[in-house]
Amino acid sequence: EWNMPDYISEAVARIREQVGTDDVILGLSGGVDSSVAAALIHRAIGDQLTCVFVDHGLLRLDEGKMVMDMFAKNLGVKVLRIDAEEQFLGHLAGVADPEAKRKIIGREFVEVFQVEAGKLKNAKWLAQGTIYPDVIESAGKGKKGQTIKSHHNVGGLPETLNLKLLEPLRELFKDEVRKLGVALGLPHDMVYRHPFPGPGLGVRILGEVKKEFADLLRRADAIFIEELRNTPCELPALESIDAGAAPTNWYEATSQAFAVFLPVKSVGVMGDGRTYEYVVALRAVQTLDFMTAQWAHLPHSLLGKVSNRIINEVRGINRVVYDISGKPPATIEWE
Ligand code: XMP
Repeated sequence: EWNMPDYISEAVARIREQVGTDDVILGLSGGVDSSVAAALIHRAIGDQLTCVFVDHGLLRLDEGKMVMDMFAKNLGVKVLRIDAEEQFLGHLAGVADPEAKRKIIGREFVEVFQVEAGKLKNAKWLAQGTIYPDVIESAGKGKKGQTIKSHHNVGGLPETLNLKLLEPLRELFKDEVRKLGVALGLPHDMVYRHPFPGPGLGVRILGEVKKEFADLLRRADAIFIEELRNTPCELPALESIDAGAAPTNWYEATSQAFAVFLPVKSVGVMGDGRTYEYVVALRAVQTLDFMTAQWAHLPHSLLGKVSNRIINEVRGINRVVYDISGKPPATIEWE
């Protein structure tokens, strides 16, 4: 257990020593990990850091604006926003296999970085918000010897990129990353935001990714998150949650919550008419380390309200289900 100000000065010194006068490029996803990495590296080397925020078309509702406001406007970090939706969705067309999708998304990220890094003549480093659990899980082998899930942001950078890897959060667990973020002056809401995977909605749209599906999922997900934030929670501080204080609402009482798009149509009835539309699954879990997790016992009234709102407000979805699977044996994400 280290002391935070000491940790920051040590980390800052280490980054400065490692990087020298080189420029660093960082892929900012809007998730907690890359955001804290950006803040830490910015603290160390200021304008030698350029963040690349890739809009791959698989972001949550209003995510791009939120990230740009936070980093570019408020913190004065150099952030390039790259609109790459067509590039990503184009390469994902017709691909249904989860690992193939992850590989494509990872590969396209690298491509975008390569192009952007090429424009920064001094860029020698690629910074990433890899944290300790990512490192362990990517090294983990299933019974048949295959990697359980390939995290696109761990290892495997092609030589052609010609950038060295800077991963200042590699030794930290999630709760430590959050404490570091607060100590670096990031707003509480940002730092205690649920984590968001690098492949984004790409792993929350089962099977083939389509823009139409992403648009439906974004709206359903935003309703779920809004209701979680707006519903008071009277639970005492949960041991499985790392917020450090008793949660005041159900967003704070869960570690990760999101909607999943199922490309399955079922029959429903609306007014006098029959509908035949898609299904959305809600997932909410409580965990400390994301290696194991339990499904959250959300109040039925909350689930009912979210379901009603999604079905009424998102034309194209006529059924909502709740995921009651623990990890293990299920994973948190559906792919
Ligand atoms: P799973 O689904 O393996 O997720 O139980 C554990 C945690 O990791 C996140 N996750 C990812 N993060 N790239 C990422 O950056 C990925 O490919 C990836 N897959 C899962 C997931 O959201 C959860 O927090």
